[in-house]
Amino acid sequence: MLKENIQPLPIFLDVATAAAKKGGAVLKEFWGKQLAIAEKEYQGDLVTEADKKAEKEILAVIRSDFADHAILAEESGQLTQKESDYLWVIDPLDGTTNYAHGYPQSAVSIGLLIEGIPTVGVVYNPLSEELWSAAKGHGATLNQHSIQVSETKELSKSLLVTGFAYDRRETFDNNYAEFCYLTHLTQGVRRTGSAALDLVHVACGRFDGYWERGIKPWDIAAGIVILEEAGGKVSAYNGSKIDLNSGRILATNGKIHHLLSETLQKTPRLSDRFYRQLS
Ligand code: IPD
Ligand code: CA
Ligand code: CA
Repeated sequence: MLKENIQPLPIFLDVATAAAKKGGAVLKEFWGKQLAIAEKEYQGDLVTEADKKAEKEILAVIRSDFADHAILAEESGQLTQKESDYLWVIDPLDGTTNYAHGYPQSAVSIGLLIEGIPTVGVVYNPLSEELWSAAKGHGATLNQHSIQVSETKELSKSLLVTGFAYDRRETFDNNYAEFCYLTHLTQGVRRTGSAALDLVHVACGRFDGYWERGIKPWDIAAGIVILEEAGGKVSAYNGSKIDLNSGRILATNGKIHHLLSETLQKTPRLSDRFYRQLS
């Protein structure tokens, strides 16, 4: 139960929106320019000066309004002043690889967890000028127009989306088998390179479902609120309650949820020979 004295959710949504626009302005400013790029822990896990500057601007907006709230931001880590019921979960640039290559599918993702529950979310693609937002109980919008998930009920008629985490070369549990199997069973599986956009594209009916492993809380916190408010469903692969720190998410229009869940759990594994030849 949320405490009675919390501020109305639209107040948090306004701050999240202002912060996302500030971050987005930085991404526009650096777009197309020569960028300083570094690689993080895994091969291909990039961070650019745009990620860092966008995060700084976003943090400044949130801190100026909610100095006592906790923050988890991809580039800065956990910034908890003290115990707080409020946790802002921020990815300043989701889709860094796209951005670094000049492919315009990237977004700022800002979610607010209240007592651990994803409650407010904003995902902003500054390059397409699309802003998705939602607060629990208030519905979901894209550029202020109400959005809803698709009506597709069969896997064979679905268009899905997924992604591949940066540790994919280090583990056989790398989503290759699931990608093959679901490509076979559906009208297609896309890979956009931004988990936040994947979720909101399900929310507005462009995709029917999304799954991914190796995902972090900042990739999905905002998108979860938006998808649920648009009528979608989010869970673990087996349909149980999602744990944001588990690294796995299954997110759909709700109508194909059980089908996608069953399929993920019975995906045939690829041969050991296939994996041996990759390494
Ligand atoms: C990545 C994107 C991508 C997903 C990776 C994420 P980043 O985030 O969301 O779609 O497949 O697992 O790490 O690095 O671009 O912020
Ligand atoms: Ca991310
Ligand atoms: Ca990022």
